[in-house]
Amino acid sequence: MSEAPQKPVTIRDLQSFEDLEQAEALEREVWGLADRDVMPMALMIATKEAGSAWIGAFDGPKLAGFVFGFLAMEGGHVTLHSHMLAVREPYRDLDLGYKLKLAQRERTLAMRVPEVTWTFDPLQSRNAHLNFGKLGVVSDIYKVDFYGPQTSSVLHQNGTDRLWVRWPLTSRRVRDRLLGKDYRPEALDALSHLQPLVQFNGDGKPHRNDLVTALARQRIAIQIPSDIGAVEQKDPGLAREWREATRWAFTEALRAGFFVAEFARTVRGKQGPGNYLLEKGSITEFVPELQRKPDPFR
Ligand SMILES: CC(C)(COP(=O)(O)OP(=O)(O)OC[C@H]1O[C@@H](n2cnc3c(N)ncnc32)[C@H](O)[C@@H]1OP(=O)(O)O)[C@@H](O)C(=O)NCCC(=O)NCCS
Repeated sequence: MSEAPQKPVTIRDLQSFEDLEQAEALEREVWGLADRDVMPMALMIATKEAGSAWIGAFDGPKLAGFVFGFLAMEGGHVTLHSHMLAVREPYRDLDLGYKLKLAQRERTLAMRVPEVTWTFDPLQSRNAHLNFGKLGVVSDIYKVDFYGPQTSSVLHQNGTDRLWVRWPLTSRRVRDRLLGKDYRPEALDALSHLQPLVQFNGDGKPHRNDLVTALARQRIAIQIPSDIGAVEQKDPGLAREWREATRWAFTEALRAGFFVAEFARTVRGKQGPGNYLLEKGSITEFVPELQRKPDPFR
């Protein structure tokens, strides 16, 4: 029998001990974690009681997904750092990830906090589309092996490199994105004129193009596979090649003064390869609502 939702899914706060137990089980299921890597129940309770945002998507009494974020400080500004977003497999691609982020946005604005940050694996095409395409994040920080070279999670076997993304909640960019304003024509047009710094060669492997030529341009594209999980299962060595090539491209480009502005799949509705679009220049000019002061801890 299908596990897909039978009736509308409700978005609401996690309230009871049982709700948090369901979140713990969902965390284990989605990330495939060993005990040592699961968030301890005592910490879940403490963060919830201290006002952190635990929001769930419920199919009847059953938790289908959740998002968790805690208050943080970045560059002297208070932000909400979103540590986990997860949707159970049968409920994916039904907009639940998006709806959970919208609820998180509302909650964060109610706390008078204007920005949410989080990290995600830039090789995960679905996450890239959700984060850049549907939500309108931007990023200028790439973290190599953020959680260490490997954890017990099935999603962390190919290293834990992350893009650190910023979601300026009331910015024009984000409001336009949430109103469904189509960003793709412009992004695809820009991408059609660029030879990606990393791109598929004929054999499904990543090919590195000339760095000096790419850095001399105003924009850079970086290509990724549509389903890195499938690549990893079939050929872990090839997945590693994609990790190394994209790590090289992101770190070189960000170091040279580019930031990540968009992600677009080449074919709408189909899961073809995706392209990141990086722009040269100041991220705060691109999104003026982003304010950043020097941070002595970074
Ligand atoms: C990331 C995750 C939360 C997304 O949840 P979700 O409910 O499927 O998200 P949504 O349905 O709102 O959005 C998914 C989008 O990706 C698209 N998509 C699906 N597969 C894709 C692929 N291979 N490449 C690009 N986009 C893809 C869907 O079509 C949908 O976009 P659309 O609404 O424009 O059609 C879920 O996949 C998950 O739990 N993953 C594992 C844990 C994880 O990675 N957490 C996030 C860490 S930041």
